[in-house]
Amino acid sequence: MKAIFPGSFDPITIGHLDLIRRAAAFCEEIFVAILINPDKEGAFPLPERLDMVKSACAAFSNVRVLGFSGLLVDLARKLDTRLVIRGVRGGYDLENETAMAWANAAMLPGLETLFLPASDGLGGVSSSLVRQIARFGGDFSAFVPAGAADIVRARLHDK
Ligand code: PNS
Repeated sequence: MKAIFPGSFDPITIGHLDLIRRAAAFCEEIFVAILINPDKEGAFPLPERLDMVKSACAAFSNVRVLGFSGLLVDLARKLDTRLVIRGVRGGYDLENETAMAWANAAMLPGLETLFLPASDGLGGVSSSLVRQIARFGGDFSAFVPAGAADIVRARLHDK
């Protein structure tokens, strides 16, 4: 089955990459979709997010990466898939993700959202944590895929 793995990826983390790798192992094709979250002003322009996500996912033959501005349900219609995969790191994520899944299913009946729990040890990794460490010149390299570190440093260090 084809699935969408949507997110802001601002920037991609090793937590995202772990989820993509696990989803790619049981889905025929994964569309990693970089969506604009209207509630969050992004730190990275879309082309940089695309670069980071594409380089991180290059090794997966059944993963495609795309940017999309609009509703997730419209992307699902466009890609003709009814499966969305989202990671959950704990109770807070679960509450938010459940509300999003309900809203998406209300807008597009038949759309299913599958939650994957973060792998042990990755529940504390987030894009916001990476941004904060990077802004103060700290070492965030363990939290992002190798190819993303330079882009993150160039955009955020001392900004
Ligand atoms: O990585 P994030 O910031 O948790 O991802 C959230 C995202 C981008 C998946 C979510 O905000 C989203 O789906 N945005 C697209 C607009 C949309 O469809 N909103 C309605 C969802 S209830």
